[in-house]
Amino acid sequence: MTGPRIRPRRLRATPAWRRLHRETRPEASRLVLPMFIAEGASEARPIASMPGVVQHSTDSFRAALHRAAEAGIGGVMLFGVPEHKDALGSGATDPQGILNVATRIAISEVGDQLVVQTDLCLDEFTDHGHCGVLDARGTVDNDASLERYRDMALVQAEAGSHLLGLSGMMDGQVAALRDGLDAAGRADVALLAYSAKYASAFYGPFRDAVQSSLQGDRRSYQLDPANRREGAREVDLDVAEGADVVMVKPAMTYLDVLADAAAVSPVPVWAYQVSGEYAMIEAAAAHGWIDRERAIDESLTSIVRAGADAVLTYAAVEAAERWKDA
Ligand code: PBG
Repeated sequence: MTGPRIRPRRLRATPAWRRLHRETRPEASRLVLPMFIAEGASEARPIASMPGVVQHSTDSFRAALHRAAEAGIGGVMLFGVPEHKDALGSGATDPQGILNVATRIAISEVGDQLVVQTDLCLDEFTDHGHCGVLDARGTVDNDASLERYRDMALVQAEAGSHLLGLSGMMDGQVAALRDGLDAAGRADVALLAYSAKYASAFYGPFRDAVQSSLQGDRRSYQLDPANRREGAREVDLDVAEGADVVMVKPAMTYLDVLADAAAVSPVPVWAYQVSGEYAMIEAAAAHGWIDRERAIDESLTSIVRAGADAVLTYAAVEAAERWKDA
């Protein structure tokens, strides 16, 4: 009797074999925690559609920053939730605006331990909820938005941000901000381009998190979920414009785009496991339908396996703490 000569099961037989044979090792240092800071909040406020995630007060924010640094994650990505919104998103360029205040806090508390990153986009600050400013016809005006982004970049750099997260999906935004920063003597500030950012249903809970009521949709500037080649093209353009890091977003529904980018990009490629991806896991786990921790770990492993050098995820700190004990 001869059985199969080749038996892949040999290397799966024991925990010791599986540990030795593992191809992908997600590490705490690869994780980035997105955080929300609400102007005027006296204490942390839960976000209903994102269990375990809060809009921070400045006090709870400080405590969470130290916990994140202690857990050994790589960085934090900050989002501001302003009390007042207007058509131009004025709060974004106000040095006393909540995001800039939060950035100064993060730099002073953990700036030597974590890469402090800031969302550079107007949607948290505009009353219409779009990522840019609108023209007379109500269309998002690309070049006028670039002007606002340039001002925003200088204010964020001044607040101390290490890495600006360009999530607006305007054409030419990387080049415009690189030029603006360099001309202002801020060649030290790095740019993370949300290059392949898709017009996704999975951003739903984020709108609750930043209390944004979007008028219309973002399909005239974010990518069509059907397009793979266009994702690769956006990555190429952003690299050519001087991006230090490129990103694919969301993560789990775009692993092909991520793998494409990882195969060719000369700069690091990150992925963003967005609010809806996190909420889906939480919701299924709350019903007892999946094992929450295994699902989180499997999802993060799959994103790293597909080629992500780092992952933005709302589960960053708990995953890092869990992996430490493993
Ligand atoms: C734009 C921005 C969005 C997210 C991050 N940056 C919202 C959007 O583009 O609609 C979504 C993140 C998430 O869903 O977790 N500032």
